[in-house]
Amino acid sequence: MKTYPIRRLALYLTILITGLCAIEAVVLTVIPMPVFFKIVLILGLLVAVYFLSVSFLTRYINDKIEPIYKVIREIPLQGKAVKNPQQPSNEIADVHKEVEQWAKNQTQEITRLKDLERYRKEFVGNVSHELKTPIFNIQGYILTLLEGGLDDPKINMLYLKRTEKSIDRMISIVEDLESITKLESGVLRLRVESFDFVKLVDDVIEMEQMMANERKIQLLFERPEKPVKVRADKKRIMEVMTNLVANGIKYGRQKGFVKVTFYDLKDHLMVEVMDNGIGIDKSDLPRIFERFYRVDKSRSREQGGTGLGLSIVKHIIEAHKQTINVKSEVDEGTTFTFTLEKSK
Ligand SMILES: Nc1ncnc2c1ncn2[C@@H]1O[C@H](COP(=O)(O)OP(=O)(O)OP(=O)(O)O)[C@@H](O)[C@H]1O
Ligand SMILES: [Mg+2]
Repeated sequence: MKTYPIRRLALYLTILITGLCAIEAVVLTVIPMPVFFKIVLILGLLVAVYFLSVSFLTRYINDKIEPIYKVIREIPLQGKAVKNPQQPSNEIADVHKEVEQWAKNQTQEITRLKDLERYRKEFVGNVSHELKTPIFNIQGYILTLLEGGLDDPKINMLYLKRTEKSIDRMISIVEDLESITKLESGVLRLRVESFDFVKLVDDVIEMEQMMANERKIQLLFERPEKPVKVRADKKRIMEVMTNLVANGIKYGRQKGFVKVTFYDLKDHLMVEVMDNGIGIDKSDLPRIFERFYRVDKSRSREQGGTGLGLSIVKHIIEAHKQTINVKSEVDEGTTFTFTLEKSK
């Protein structure tokens, strides 16, 4: 016959209590003693029964709960240890709470992994989509050259130049992807140094001037008289500034402006890159730092954009333990602000 543990437990307790009652009855009826002693004896036996039952039940419940604790402890959670792992509580309510917390953490973990998986699929899809365009273009140019274009000096130069442009585009996508992967996986170590931020902005403006002239956009810089020293990875911050200024030009309006301003915040420097361009709709604003996110895909692609720039910018700023914010109004303009640590 199969014996269920709870029935066995009830049986043991019944035997124990019956045995104690029998001993008590014999003692009370057979042995003559004063009433006071009899009361003390009854109370003593009751207390003994109470403690025996408590210890019996506690041990029994602990034995049953221990394996559950073991399971919980053995399943690692992302940085969330089950509290008090060495000392299992013997209170059922505590165990219930802990198991509940554990189940909640597990659910969160599963949701996180599902989100990551969705993100990964989306990412791979986006990468192949972005690379397809230049690859197909190159295929087309080569076919044209093979089908006779090679012999015509005008056509061959034109198509070779176009091929070169598509290859440059692929290289820039791959480089951006490499940067993002390194920044996300933490492989990329920042090379923090002290440098003059005014000089860096001068260099960025000089580099972007051609593009700004083409679009008739003025590059303005409220240039401080003295050097402004910051502590950061110069190369990476150059990338941040280039991306922000280039965006201001790309999404700016003809005869508009892009303006760089500094604000002194005691230990930090706040940098503002403001334009009076097309602006970004409120519904798009929370997503612009996502990889590959572009408000107007055709406009961005036409400008050679992949939608990776701001994602890289955010990663770089966060790797410096600083923050970046954006404010924008459609048809009025966009302002990005970020902070940097000042050098003492
Ligand atoms: N200053 C701005 N004004 C208006 N829209 C902007 C501005 N900066 C960014 N955006 C919008 O945010 C999107 C994402 O910007 P991001 O810099 O990440 O990508 P991109 O400029 O399209 O391409 P990439 O920088 O990779 O060459 C852009 O496509 C654009 O729609
Ligand atoms: Mg950009």
